[in-house]
Amino acid sequence: MQRQITIGLTLVGAALLVAGCHTDMWQQPKVKAQQKSEFQGFSNKAASRPLVAGTVPRGKMKLDEAFFTGFQDGKLVKELPIQVDEMVLKRGQERFDIFCSHCHGRNGDGKGMINQRGLVLVRPPASYHSDRLRNMPIGHFYDVITNGFGVMYRQAPGVEPADRWAIAAYIRVLQTAMNGNLNDVPSDERSKLEASAGKPSIADAATPGEEKS
Ligand code: HEC
Repeated sequence: MQRQITIGLTLVGAALLVAGCHTDMWQQPKVKAQQKSEFQGFSNKAASRPLVAGTVPRGKMKLDEAFFTGFQDGKLVKELPIQVDEMVLKRGQERFDIFCSHCHGRNGDGKGMINQRGLVLVRPPASYHSDRLRNMPIGHFYDVITNGFGVMYRQAPGVEPADRWAIAAYIRVLQTAMNGNLNDVPSDERSKLEASAGKPSIADAATPGEEKS
């Protein structure tokens, strides 16, 4: 009996071992990255081929012109192509502080740390609080982030399209905050503001570590 059990177990073990030894999937013909190909049709002998022209990853077709370019029919869009809520503005603020504020300043006045430390080779970063940029269609900000502007290089690689719009929306917040007056404030909030007059406001807000002159 003992012997039969031993033989049985040995057979089961052997069967498992043999079953695990299939190498046909492992050894199938295939190309690895950077490998050479002898295929006659590939004149440069590279096994990895570039994508066929016009290939678009599934679900990544950029059909929405306004959303992906900031233009519609050749004109800068005047309205945000996304829904704006508090979350979007907070996201815009966060992304702006990360990707733009070191040049443009936390409040968009163009006096970020890079400007203050004299690292301005050709032109200083723009202030967003000029009449021209206040009246600029919002698509312009998307376009500047996407393609750069003058000496400013493009920020597209670090900032996804939806985040570019969030930043554009937040630039409008900065513009409004820096150019508002008391009439823009709801009447019940005005008295609070008047009471705090003389205390620091957003216009004085400095980038942390910034030296006030
Ligand atoms: C490395 C510094 C730097 C960074 C980072 C930077 N900018 Fe700029 N930006 C500049 C400079 C410099 C100019 C002025 C370019 C010129 O006039 O040639 C400028 C100009 C602009 C303008 C004005 C365009 C116009 O019509 O005059 C906008 C809007 C702008 N930047 C938005 C952004 C946003 C949004 C970000 C972040 C996503 C950003 N920038 C990041 C340096 C920077």
